[in-house]
Amino acid sequence: MDIKLVQLQKHGDERGSLVALEDQRNVPFSIRRAYYLFGTKEDVRRGFHAHKKLQQMAIVVRGHCRFHLDDGNEQLEVLLDNPAQGLMIPPGLWHEMYDFSSDCVLLVLADAHYDETDYIRSHEEFKAGLSK
Ligand code: TYD
Repeated sequence: MDIKLVQLQKHGDERGSLVALEDQRNVPFSIRRAYYLFGTKEDVRRGFHAHKKLQQMAIVVRGHCRFHLDDGNEQLEVLLDNPAQGLMIPPGLWHEMYDFSSDCVLLVLADAHYDETDYIRSHEEFKAGLSK
């Protein structure tokens, strides 16, 4: 599977680190929405969907979590534990998130407002859609 991890430039000095996110620059789409997950309980697994059109980039700003990715052919586990790394989640990629550290803050940038009709929440439907 061709997963895309974007290396985000870290501006660091003796004071600490800074990462800037800019649409059409290091984020390859126009950012229309940002949301973040935090305080995720131990043993929680969430996500369980793919999107029809939505482009997203996920950045673990603090802590770590894992992504289970499924493009219909291959499955892959990805550890995100670096605030200078963005995982691209293109449309048509089934994703689940798990193994959240208690301090995990998972920031997601998206190219559209929240729209429930863009979700494919059934794995059966996801698989069926790919074979069309
Ligand atoms: P949910 O889709 O269950 O999150 P995940 O797929 O990551 O497990 O979303 C949880 C709730 O938050 C649900 O009621 C929908 C709402 N929500 C918004 O209102 N706006 C958003 O941008 C997102 C991602 C979710």
